Amino acid sequence: MRVFRVRDFEEALAIDAILFPETHQELPEAGNQFWLARDDEGQAVGFASVRPLREASDDSKWKETVFLSRVGVLQSARNQGLQTRFVRARLRWARRKGYKRAVTYVSWDNVWSLRVLVKAGFLPFRPTSYWAGNVTYLEREI
Ligand SMILES: CC(C)(COP(=O)(O)OP(=O)(O)OC[C@H]1O[C@@H](n2cnc3c(N)ncnc32)[C@H](O)[C@@H]1OP(=O)(O)O)[C@@H](O)C(=O)NCCC(=O)NCCS
Repeated sequence: MRVFRVRDFEEALAIDAILFPETHQELPEAGNQFWLARDDEGQAVGFASVRPLREASDDSKWKETVFLSRVGVLQSARNQGLQTRFVRARLRWARRKGYKRAVTYVSWDNVWSLRVLVKAGFLPFRPTSYWAGNVTYLEREI
């Protein structure tokens, strides 16, 4: 398996459409960066994305923050450490770009993602009032 950053996100969006048909967006939000995983046959089997919040806010805390946005691994490629590698790759990229903090959220019952994120050093934090839902918010310094 190979994990690498891509500028062309068509294959990532195709996986997104399979895994998240109800919330799939045709066009990614501005500024999103994408990573892709390919299996040994060259098939795209997973993707992950990051959204820098620099453009989104004037608040200095948020300017230094990246949001680990969607990640998805096709069923056939799960449990082989791909999400773990996606988390590391995105944190490495953010560190190189000078970001100081990463945040993300997962459904409270998504034990797989929670496990990977906690192992990668993320800790739960209390979200500000405009974020809500049955999700756990996590952050870490980078
Ligand atoms: C969540 C998801 C991205 C994980 O991807 P992955 O590549 O399989 O993740 P990894 O292989 O890096 O790690 C999975 C971890 O969950 C653990 N795990 C697997 N099944 C488990 C279970 N039933 N209970 C608890 N932990 C479990 C694995 O052991 C592994 O932990 P480990 O590294 O300590 O062994 C993938 O399952 C997926 O795409 N799910 C659907 C979409 C989704 O939920 N996306 C995230 C929210 S946007």
